[in-house]
Amino acid sequence: MIRSVIVGCGSYLPKRVMTNAELAGMVDTSDEWIVARSGIRQRHIAADGETTGDLAEAAARDALDHAGLQPDDIDLIVLATATPDSTFPATATVVQSRLGIRHGAAFDIQAVCSGFVYALATADNFLKAGQFRRALVIGAETFSRILDWEDRTTCVLFGDGAGAIVLEAMEGEGTNADRGILTSHLHADGCHHDLLYVDGGPSGTQTVGHLRMSGKEVFRHAVVNLSAVINEALDATGLHADDIDWVIPHQANKRILDGTARKLKLDPSKVVVTVDRHGNTSAASVPLALTEAVRDGRIQRGQLLLLEAMGGGFTWGSALVRW
Ligand code: UT7
Repeated sequence: MIRSVIVGCGSYLPKRVMTNAELAGMVDTSDEWIVARSGIRQRHIAADGETTGDLAEAAARDALDHAGLQPDDIDLIVLATATPDSTFPATATVVQSRLGIRHGAAFDIQAVCSGFVYALATADNFLKAGQFRRALVIGAETFSRILDWEDRTTCVLFGDGAGAIVLEAMEGEGTNADRGILTSHLHADGCHHDLLYVDGGPSGTQTVGHLRMSGKEVFRHAVVNLSAVINEALDATGLHADDIDWVIPHQANKRILDGTARKLKLDPSKVVVTVDRHGNTSAASVPLALTEAVRDGRIQRGQLLLLEAMGGGFTWGSALVRW
C-alpha cells in the first residue's frame, strides 16, 4: 500500500523576540503570571511587512533543502493558516509562485490550531489515492496581526512562525513497521465556535478583527478531546502509549501538555516542548516542534511519533507517524 513518508522538514521564526518583561510594560501582566499559567517565556513576532507567506516560503525552502529536493519535485502544496496574506488567493499559491512551481495544486486549509494536522491528513489522502506524488505541507501564522494588544488574557499567549514538511508517496507493507503516516483522525464540533474566534471577517464585518478566547473553557475541552483522539489513533493501529517515542503536540499551554501526558500515562520526557520559547503559533506549532526535535537529533529513523492538536471551532486531530 502507498504510505506518505516525511522525507524532510523545515522551519522559520521571525528574528524579533518579545519577552514577557516587554509585555508587562504594555498590559497589566507579569513574567510570573505568564510562566505559571502557560509556561511561555518569549515568542517571535514578524517584522513590519513580513507576512505569513514570507514565513511559509522560508520554512518550505528549509524543508526542501533538508529533503534534498527541488521545488519542481513538488506537485501539491497544502498550507494551514488562520492568518493568510489576503482573503484570497490562498497563501499556498503565493508560496507556489515564489518557489517557481507552475504545475500541480495549491490551497489553504483553515482549522486554526489544528490546521497542520488537518493539512497532513488531507495531503496523506491525496498521496494514498495516487493523485499526487510529493506534497509540501506547511503551517504558517502571523497571529500578532490579529491580537488585541490591550487584552492581557490573549496577547501574552501567541507568537508568529512557520514549519513545513515534505511528504512523499512510497510503497509500504501495510504494517505498523512501515515508515510514514500510519493513521490520522480528525474531528470538529462547531457548537463551540464562540469560545475561540476572531470578531471580524470579510463577509461579517469587512474587517480583519481580533482574537477572542474563553481560555478556561478551551482548556477544559482541550485535555479531554486530545486524550480521546490520541487513544483513537492507538486503538486504530493496535499500538500502545509505551510504543510512542515522541509526542509532538500543538503548543498552546505547558499545563495542557502536562495534563494530557498525565491522563494517558505518557512519559513527560517524551513530549517535545517549544511553547516556552515560541508561545502558541497555532498551525505552525507542530511542524516547528517536529523540526526542532529532528534537527537536534532527538528523533531518529524508525521511531514512532504522535502528532496532536486542538483549536478553534473546535477542531482537533491526531496522527501516528513512523519517522
Ligand atoms: O491553541 C488553541 C487552544 N488554546 C488553548 O488551549 C488555550 C487554553 N487556555 C489556557 O491556556 C488558559 O486558560 C489561559 C492561559 C488562557 C488562562 O489560564 P487560567 O489559569 O485559565 O486563568 P484564568 O483565565 O482563569 O484567569 C485567572 C486570573 C483572572 O483574574 P481573576 O478573575 O481571578 O481576578 C484573570 O483576569 O488571571 C487574570 N489574568 C491575568 N493576570 C495577569 C488573565 N490574563 C492575565 C495576564 N496577566 N496576562
